[in-house]
Amino acid sequence: MANLDLKTLCENTIQLVKEAGVFIRKEFKGFDISKIESKGRSNDLVSYVDKETEKILVAGLRKILPEAGFIGEEGASEEGTDGLQWVIDPLDGTTNFLHGLPSFSISVALIQRSSVLIGVVYEINLDECFYAWKNGGAFLNGNKITISPVKEMKRSLIATGFPYSMRGKTDQYFEIIKEMVNQSHGLRRLGSAAVDLCYVACGRFEAYFEFNIHIWDIAAGVLLVQEAGGKVTDYSGGDDYLQGKELLAAGAIHTEALAIIQKHW
Ligand code: IPD
Ligand code: CA
Ligand code: CA
Repeated sequence: MANLDLKTLCENTIQLVKEAGVFIRKEFKGFDISKIESKGRSNDLVSYVDKETEKILVAGLRKILPEAGFIGEEGASEEGTDGLQWVIDPLDGTTNFLHGLPSFSISVALIQRSSVLIGVVYEINLDECFYAWKNGGAFLNGNKITISPVKEMKRSLIATGFPYSMRGKTDQYFEIIKEMVNQSHGLRRLGSAAVDLCYVACGRFEAYFEFNIHIWDIAAGVLLVQEAGGKVTDYSGGDDYLQGKELLAAGAIHTEALAIIQKHW
């Protein structure tokens, strides 16, 4: 396959994601909560908005790069040529959306096997589009972004998420949370993993950690953090964060945060 023009692919993806954002924004106004469906667990929710948005994105991305396959939260699944796949979370922060809370995003990444080539996260209500392409830097609405310069946890703001299933790890997780709350400026749970990662990338948060997350939640945001100068690892300090379901993304406080996680995990 010829070399991909990642910058142009990224620009085309941004345009598509913003178009999909128009649909979500329209549906958000007056969304009828009785249209919620559950995916199995009573707290793992979905709606026609998630499903329709995924369809819009798949149709558009197919035109942008026909060789690439798909991994979509709402079911898109297709192998691509040379390991190329679009990874789509059509609505990250579904629970916020369904309850009328204006903090949710669209997350789209292009991966080639385990390497993320492009990441686009669109925070719909704030009209903030975060994007990066491999070795090209990270941006927010056209401006280059970098991680926070803060070096100590005692001066940091940290984000986490509560996975739909804690898989028997609730006590360990809350021990970590307790220690981080005590040692930082505070801990936030906004409700969109993709946005949490972008906020690390642009220095609003010094760290974000979560477990039992999926590749569609994080693929785009991970590239944003890395291209903004941050570090992403699993809870062993290794590289198995895309498929491994546990992730710590941070700037200079990565070592300090990882030590707390490892103490309790
Ligand atoms: C969820 C959000 C949330 C995180 C969950 C994710 P969804 O994705 O990213 O912040 O805590 O683990 O599953 O269901 O809103 O797409
Ligand atoms: Ca998600
Ligand atoms: Ca979702």
